[in-house]
Amino acid sequence: MILVTGATGSIGGHLVRRLADDGVPFRAMVRDEARGEALGVDFVVGDFDDPDSVARALDGVDRLFLNAGGAVPADGEQPMVRQQRDAIDAARRAGVSRIVKISVWGAEEGGRLAVGAHWRIEQHLKASGVEWSLLQPSGFMQNFVTGAGSFTADGDLIGNHLDAPVSYIDAQDIAACAAVLLTGWRGAGETYVLTGPEALTQTEIAARLTTAVGTTVRNVGMPPAEMAAALTAQGLPARFADDVATLWAGIADGALATTTDAVRELTGRPPRTFDEFLAENRDALQAVLAPRH
Ligand SMILES: NC(=O)c1ccc[n+]([C@@H]2O[C@H](COP(=O)([O-])OP(=O)(O)OC[C@H]3O[C@@H](n4cnc5c(N)ncnc54)[C@H](OP(=O)(O)O)[C@@H]3O)[C@@H](O)[C@H]2O)c1
Repeated sequence: MILVTGATGSIGGHLVRRLADDGVPFRAMVRDEARGEALGVDFVVGDFDDPDSVARALDGVDRLFLNAGGAVPADGEQPMVRQQRDAIDAARRAGVSRIVKISVWGAEEGGRLAVGAHWRIEQHLKASGVEWSLLQPSGFMQNFVTGAGSFTADGDLIGNHLDAPVSYIDAQDIAACAAVLLTGWRGAGETYVLTGPEALTQTEIAARLTTAVGTTVRNVGMPPAEMAAALTAQGLPARFADDVATLWAGIADGALATTTDAVRELTGRPPRTFDEFLAENRDALQAVLAPRH
């Protein structure tokens, strides 16, 4: 039995559908019963902040897909470090034999936000004694649909001012890789950096969005301080906005500028292109951008 956490999220939603289509026995962990019902699959209510509920969710589970979106931390501390470390310990106690964890490309000690948080969780997982596989994705194409600090109030792209390319990946491909690791024997003790098939600059992305959605999206190329101010104006805590801007400064230096072959290696097919993503998500993108123009 597989337990899928983060089952209602960008990756988890695709993973749940894929496992269900393939007839793989699994259970989805959700915080909200109604959202579980809506998934239409076997589910259990559980919250990483409620250890008893996580222990119940893990009953009889052999493999764990470990993922949750990071809540925006007002004080800079990422709750997911405590949440996921506790979940790893609970999984070990429950006799789980493999954990497949979503991390982030470039996870490193002392890194800002998720970059440092995932590194700390990775270390805990590697020391847990449970077999593990790590997926370290590049930026998600889905960020343009969820908002995720991608656009200004005027519908322009918030991005790196040096316009370095980013090899965005579709969350569908992350889910496909996770499914391979959850259902087979490959990948024990392996870390996979997952990227899309091409690295695109913000200027190229703005042009493609403009064509796909039919409204003009510009790349305004904000320097870090200006970007932090724009995010704060959207209601994000100042420290968080500052950390995001710092991460983008790294991206401007090319931190996410290359591509890897890991998606093809794991799934046997190439990763989805940004144009495929745009074609499939045109309505959702229009809904995000229309109120800003
Ligand atoms: N976005 C990027 O560009 C990017 C790049 C690299 C790595 N990542 C990493 O990817 C992960 C996010 O993945 P995603 O985009 O699939 O997530 P997502 O769409 O943000 O969804 C978050 C999921 O986590 C669940 N969740 C949140 N808090 C929870 C809690 N306390 N207990 C149980 N479940 C909880 C949510 O459930 P509800 O439905 O109840 O809210 C939801 O299913 C993060 O760790 C992030 O660091 C993101």
